[in-house]
Amino acid sequence: MLQEKLQFSRIIQGVMNWGAWGAKMSTQQMAEQIEHVLDLGITTFDHADIYGGYTTEAEFGKAFKESGVNREDVQLISKLGIQYLSDERPYNRVKHYQYDATYILENTERSLQKLNTNYLDLLLLHRPSPLMDPLEIKGAIERLLTEGKIKSFGVSNFTPSQVAMLEKHIKVSGNQIECSITQYEPMLNGVLDDMVTKNILPMAWSPLGSIFKEHTQQTMRVQNVLKTLRAKYRTTIDQILIAWLLKHPSGIHPVIGTSKVSHAKAAVKAQEINLDIQDWFELLIASQGHKVP
Ligand SMILES: NC(=O)c1ccc[n+]([C@@H]2O[C@H](COP(=O)([O-])OP(=O)(O)OC[C@H]3O[C@@H](n4cnc5c(N)ncnc54)[C@H](OP(=O)(O)O)[C@@H]3O)[C@@H](O)[C@H]2O)c1
Repeated sequence: MLQEKLQFSRIIQGVMNWGAWGAKMSTQQMAEQIEHVLDLGITTFDHADIYGGYTTEAEFGKAFKESGVNREDVQLISKLGIQYLSDERPYNRVKHYQYDATYILENTERSLQKLNTNYLDLLLLHRPSPLMDPLEIKGAIERLLTEGKIKSFGVSNFTPSQVAMLEKHIKVSGNQIECSITQYEPMLNGVLDDMVTKNILPMAWSPLGSIFKEHTQQTMRVQNVLKTLRAKYRTTIDQILIAWLLKHPSGIHPVIGTSKVSHAKAAVKAQEINLDIQDWFELLIASQGHKVP
């Protein structure tokens, strides 16, 4: 089953924190934010059904309509599979994952309606489930592709063996994983190598890692190097962190979470920085807390 080649902006805007889980933007603010990030050249938006307790997709859909931006000028990613405890889903007793065909079809339909669109550019399975059945998933995804409701299919937080299990039956076009200076394991444990080998687009969520979120021995070591590099490259810490990811040859697409235009602009400008190889390793070494072997 043919899937369209993913043509996303190198920096992807995540909207997890634009609604109830973060900035609580009004429709007008969200419409303006969409236009601002488009002006910066960010055309791809990352959603999941659960964001804002199943409310952010609909808020974005409303704001997108109000913005008057053409659907063809943006790419929309969404994810499904997490059954979360929420007022929207009062029947959920425990957080769990669901990937039967009926659920995949019905939930995608819900996302399309909420987002005010006829198609998703990419649908992702949000997290791997021990109960997922690749043949059942293939059936539902092929139907969505045939009906034009999704342009391509991918996964999130999947290991190489989980990807391989699905790829026996259906092409996996992208894998969205946690990857950053403080979560560098995918660069060392085969996850990114596997994506290069299988021609799978890597997307990195939380691309700034825990640098602005935590004050630990690890973040302090990295901060010390960042201070020197900030002066050397005459830039900001967040730009160095994004540039560090962009240097990886797999072509990582950072999924940024900011709700501020200035921080989105910084992420875009990071594409102009080519970190020296030794600076790149100095950051890795600071994060690991030890030299490379
Ligand atoms: N697939 C998955 O399982 C999964 C899981 C989590 C997230 N995601 C996706 O990934 C996206 C990004 O995740 P994230 O929000 O953790 O990513 P992030 O971009 O690494 O972190 C965003 C946070 O960093 C702050 N920040 C940005 N620049 C800053 C600066 N210069 N100084 C201080 N703080 C700064 C932002 O605050 P401001 O808003 O103030 O800029 C925001 O609180 C989400 O929106 C979602 O789409 C996917």
